[in-house]
Amino acid sequence: MTPDLMEEGAKRLALHEGYDFDGLQTESGGREAGYGRLSTSGEVDVTHGRILYLEDVSVSFDGFKAINKLSLDIAPGELRCIIGPNGAGKTTMMDIITGKTRPDSGTVFFGSTIDLLRHKEFEIAQLGIGRKFQKPTVFEHLSVFENLELALKTNKGVKSSMLFKLDSEQSDRLSEILHTINLEDSVTRLAGNLSHGQKQWLEIGMLLMQDPKLLLLDEPVAGMTDEETARTAELFLTLKGKHSLMVVEHDMSFIRTISEIVTVLCDGSVLAQGTLDEVQADERVIEVYLGR
Ligand SMILES: Nc1ncnc2c1ncn2[C@@H]1O[C@H](COP(=O)(O)OP(=O)(O)O)[C@@H](O)[C@H]1O
Ligand SMILES: [Mg+2]
Repeated sequence: MTPDLMEEGAKRLALHEGYDFDGLQTESGGREAGYGRLSTSGEVDVTHGRILYLEDVSVSFDGFKAINKLSLDIAPGELRCIIGPNGAGKTTMMDIITGKTRPDSGTVFFGSTIDLLRHKEFEIAQLGIGRKFQKPTVFEHLSVFENLELALKTNKGVKSSMLFKLDSEQSDRLSEILHTINLEDSVTRLAGNLSHGQKQWLEIGMLLMQDPKLLLLDEPVAGMTDEETARTAELFLTLKGKHSLMVVEHDMSFIRTISEIVTVLCDGSVLAQGTLDEVQADERVIEVYLGR
């Protein structure tokens, strides 16, 4: 969820329950109000064939190199899978891309012109990078419909969001996304009553409402049933091409269903990269991750 979306949800909750918004934090750890809008042309220059580009990125925490000269790039429309042992730096890499963590050194570009290290976390979200954390962070006291609707009207005052009405293009988009995330039959249900997998889909739907160019998904099928996992694989395959995706997962059968190029991270840098068959046959990958 984006910072301004969390903020909007917190306002709604405050309104709903009749207390002041000032100083309120969302259940999901959302931040304070006070963000401005970033005006961008909405276009990312991908003429060099890359939507995301990291070069020689490093970050240390108390002297420990969590990310160590990491270089990686992703093509527009690509669905990239990232695997690797716990502590490899997968989540930290997403923290760096989304501006949550600043690297000590290195280059991080969105397209060929946007230097992400010059932008704050909320600006990066507005530039079109959506992030899904491992734990679902939907607004449980709101319906599926309201959660999706909320995703469209970020950063408006409480009054204007009460008066907000979807235009026909927006309601078409909402219907289309409901279909994509397989929640058409649950429009009026409270998000809190959905299954774990459905909450994950709803949160993905909320990201999609903002039409992100790049989606970062951290262990999206953890805790899902086999059927939910299979449906999530279908969902990601339909998103590929329209969006670029970076998916961190440990579930190898899920990776097998969706993957093109798989990148193996270990000790904060790329250990191997290729098709799943190629990396699974790599001795170093077997050693550190897959086991014998
Ligand atoms: N904010 C932080 N402060 C200190 N250490 C951190 C912080 N974030 C991550 N780490 C450490 O960096 C390493 C990489 O963590 P992480 O990116 O979460 O790995 P992964 O997601 O691949 O399991 C781990 O050793 C972790 O303990
Ligand atoms: Mg992680």
